[in-house]
Amino acid sequence: MNIATYAAHRQDFPAARLRADFPILQRSVRGHPLAYLDNAATTQKPQAVIDSESAYYREINANIHRGVHWLSEQATLAHENARERVREFINARETAEIVFVRGTTEAINLVAQSYGRANLGPGDEILITGLEHHSNIVPWQLLCQQTGAVLKVAEIDDTGTVRMEQFERLLGERTRLVAVAHVSNALGTINPVREMIDLAHARGVPVLVDGAQAVAHTPVDVQALGCDFYAFSGHKLYAPTGIGVLYGRRALLEAMPPWQGGGDMIRTVSFQGSTWNDLPHKFEAGTPHIAGAIGLGAAITYMQQVGVHNVAAYEHELLDYGTQLLTQIPGLRMIGTAQNKAGILSFVVDGLHAHDLGTVLDSQGVAIRAGHHCAMPVMEYFGVPATARASLALYNTREDLDRLAQALHQAVEMFC
Ligand code: ALA
Repeated sequence: MNIATYAAHRQDFPAARLRADFPILQRSVRGHPLAYLDNAATTQKPQAVIDSESAYYREINANIHRGVHWLSEQATLAHENARERVREFINARETAEIVFVRGTTEAINLVAQSYGRANLGPGDEILITGLEHHSNIVPWQLLCQQTGAVLKVAEIDDTGTVRMEQFERLLGERTRLVAVAHVSNALGTINPVREMIDLAHARGVPVLVDGAQAVAHTPVDVQALGCDFYAFSGHKLYAPTGIGVLYGRRALLEAMPPWQGGGDMIRTVSFQGSTWNDLPHKFEAGTPHIAGAIGLGAAITYMQQVGVHNVAAYEHELLDYGTQLLTQIPGLRMIGTAQNKAGILSFVVDGLHAHDLGTVLDSQGVAIRAGHHCAMPVMEYFGVPATARASLALYNTREDLDRLAQALHQAVEMFC
């Protein structure tokens, strides 16, 4: 969906009313109302998610897939219903393609260690981009050490946009896998993932999309994208920490070996050898984060009620507003000015370290993140040790951004 279509959805977005659904937003911090602008790190949780998790523990707590008793049946139903919620949310063909994991990091490590070790050898190449989070770099470096494969990187330009001509050129004879972020956590750039997938598929190369910063901010349809793997974390989608999803196309998941052994992932075990359970359980060894999955299901229901298109349109409007405010601050440089951006405002201010900025803002109750954002290569490219980063969610308002700008003006006056 393009921005023009988004505009039709953004009228009267009820952010102020939605704030009431998030108990933590009612609290004050350091004597000020909380302006929470660190949503790329983790989002706050609506009461519906908190309630769903606690109701599970209060009313139906039991282990799943194993028990013959009523509680276990109820817990299994709730857990598997959450899987169906995820399937519907990203439009996967079937729940067998939805693997619950701890988060994006685990999902990518799973693909590296299972798909990667089974399919890559010396001299084979994995193609990523210059804006990746460490969790979409380091698992591939480990895989390269283990297999002799080689990591290739399509660079970004000064706006934080991937150089597509280089991306295309690096897709070579030896490329065996492409792994790209849907949205950059450090810059906000929305990668042209559909185009990247088409280019890779034209050469028979499968694609993993790191959707950690995308699913809460833009509609995702894995069938329309055509990706082979899609990874995301619950906690950036208003759900609990410790739960996430790996979507994988059935044919690939079927062919992949398990990556962790244990209970629930097996069909039979003997000392001579073991056989594996059906998808997706083959990849879910051990007791899973049942409450987390249920919370994720509730978060998705919440998102669907608000409407992901509406959220995308609203956050885009906020991003424009915030960009206008910040660019008026003396000495402030935006890091990440791609044309196609999600709600991330990353910046540096002349003469002020990002951490000091973060501390000044915190004293005003404005929560942002300062640091390298687990994207050190991005910092290196822009020649900065760190940035300050404000990141948006559906409950943010113009007032939050006004307070950010006001506190930044004060910081500049105080220190520069
Ligand atoms: N990857 C998360 C962030 O960008 C933690 O803040």
